[in-house]
Amino acid sequence: DLLNKPVIAIDGPTASGKGTVAALVADKLGYHYLDSGAIYRVLAVAVAQQALDPDTPANLATIIPMAASLPVQFQGEQVLLNGLDVSDAIRTEQAGVMASRLAVVPEIRAGLLQRQRDFHQSPGLVADGRDMGSVVFPDAVLKVFLTASAQVRAERRVRQIENRGQQADFQAIFNDLMARDKRDSERAVAPLKPCDDALVLDCSSMPIDQVVATILNWARERI
Ligand code: DC
Repeated sequence: DLLNKPVIAIDGPTASGKGTVAALVADKLGYHYLDSGAIYRVLAVAVAQQALDPDTPANLATIIPMAASLPVQFQGEQVLLNGLDVSDAIRTEQAGVMASRLAVVPEIRAGLLQRQRDFHQSPGLVADGRDMGSVVFPDAVLKVFLTASAQVRAERRVRQIENRGQQADFQAIFNDLMARDKRDSERAVAPLKPCDDALVLDCSSMPIDQVVATILNWARERI
């Protein structure tokens, strides 16, 4: 089954470029693409819409069932929540921070598991996230841990925001990124770290084409 529809797992910290890279690798191979962070972000938007603070334990009784039955749909580039386009709403810094806070709760992660595995379809899948290789697709034929220095990642994030015509404060973004890395790395369940069988790729000073080419070479050796 895994050779019929191989999975390539690309994990790494926020703003490492894994989303762009994973989508390009999927495109080259003609595979499906899972942006697992988008699922966490959609849940974050749903939780924010209902003004539920996840640090209030009583709210978890509402949030956990929401995770398991999240009415999310992916239509090409569009992400829908309850049929409404949330493609832009999920990309805000607030949605990212809320996603990271929700992601520490084991029952929330468990609730989102099957939805992620549903993307595993013929002819294959490229999945990006934090725990694609360790938890969601442990049998992936190739596991890449894509990373870059915090400085480079913060600069990228600033450029992304400015490209959207918004203002970005480098120091605030850098601090937020460090806090997010810390929360994602130190959580007890599925922490952000390379698994034993992952190939670590530091792309701090690599152009995107070269990152994609490197991963495609690794993929071709295995598939
Ligand atoms: O990759 P991203 O920035 O879109 O992810 C947003 C948050 O979601 C991230 O800070 C942690 C969480 N996340 C996770 O815990 N596991 C994943 N597989 C993907 C995202």
